[in-house]
Amino acid sequence: MIDQPILRVLQGEAVWPPPVWLMRQAGRYLPEYRKLRATAGNFIALCTTPAMATEVTLQPVRRFGMDAAILFSDILIPPWALGQKLRYAEGEGPLMERIETIADLDKLNLARLKPGTESVMETVSRVRAELPDVTTLIGFAGSPFTVACYMLDGKGGKFDRTLGLVYSDPALVAAVIETMTTATIDYLSWQIEAGADCVMLFDSWAGLLPPDLFRAHVIRPTIRIVDAIKHRHPGVHVIGFPRLAGLMALPYIAETGISAFGMDVATDAAALARLMPRKIALQGNLDPLLLRAGGLSLDYAVERIANELAGSPHIFNLGHGIVPETPPEHVGMLIERLRALEPVPPSRALEDSRIAANSGS
Ligand code: CP3
Repeated sequence: MIDQPILRVLQGEAVWPPPVWLMRQAGRYLPEYRKLRATAGNFIALCTTPAMATEVTLQPVRRFGMDAAILFSDILIPPWALGQKLRYAEGEGPLMERIETIADLDKLNLARLKPGTESVMETVSRVRAELPDVTTLIGFAGSPFTVACYMLDGKGGKFDRTLGLVYSDPALVAAVIETMTTATIDYLSWQIEAGADCVMLFDSWAGLLPPDLFRAHVIRPTIRIVDAIKHRHPGVHVIGFPRLAGLMALPYIAETGISAFGMDVATDAAALARLMPRKIALQGNLDPLLLRAGGLSLDYAVERIANELAGSPHIFNLGHGIVPETPPEHVGMLIERLRALEPVPPSRALEDSRIAANSGS
């Protein structure tokens, strides 16, 4: 096994100080990204041109020395590769020609996934070749439900259409999720074959679903994806990020087979560490708006989050992606602060929080 701090944590080891990477660590907050983005024409071209996507993936790692690079792409590249029209409108985010009926879904062609994402795999292998050995390369996909939200609504927002369809046309929603589950298994497997050291599933909108539908549309497809990845690539870890899942984090952790749980901003890390039905690694969960604000409160929060999970496997990250207005220096300060933390006796912080939690009962 390659010796990377992040892989050690994914195997269940507590590493101190915790290794760190940040969601959306490549992107508009970096001047070098904005410069390259301006020459790329459109965003899809940036994602599917290996020379540019490789450069953008490496930019934050070069500048800040994170413990991982995350492939630069987008969760909507797979449905685009299958044939669904997609564009990124300035200031509006992604716009897709939406799926209205099973006939629209049938026009998408799973056979197009491989040729349509070959450039992404080329980026993965180029990035892996350029990264230091100790730096983990994270591949990713959107989870079927979150990708289905964009496919069915045609744009980001509140996803009223999708959330209505789960009751009015459950067969259509199930069919879209089925197609994307199949596509996601191949897409992630190919990234691993191209050189990704582990993979992450982004389920940004999982928390919109009530519990029974969360089980059907989030937990069930995730079980299938994780099972298939483990079968095809034994030893490769999957990180799950069902954002705003609330208490559904517990069955998600118990049942899906993920190796690490990505905590959103609203998650109480110490409480989740205590309540977890199965001991796995936790990732997160600094508020990206606090990273933008900077200052002493940022320093304090970095230390608090790290200490709360000291002695247990933890990958330091944000609770959601970096926002574009973030001063790059704040990212540098976060990493510097984390790496300068005093050694903490194993699980001291967790013991403290257990005492605090039990004292009231
Ligand atoms: O650095 C990284 O984290 C890797 C690259 C990455 C992007 N998107 C690049 C991107 C990753 C992992 C994503 C995931 C993604 N994309 C999610 C899940 C995570 C989350 O943020 O909730 C979602 C929901 C999307 C869909 C998407 N793509 C939206 C809503 C937008 C527009 C909003 C925005 O931030 O601009 C995008 C575009 C996008 N994806 C950009 C980047 C860097 C900005 C495009 C630009 O530069 O013009």
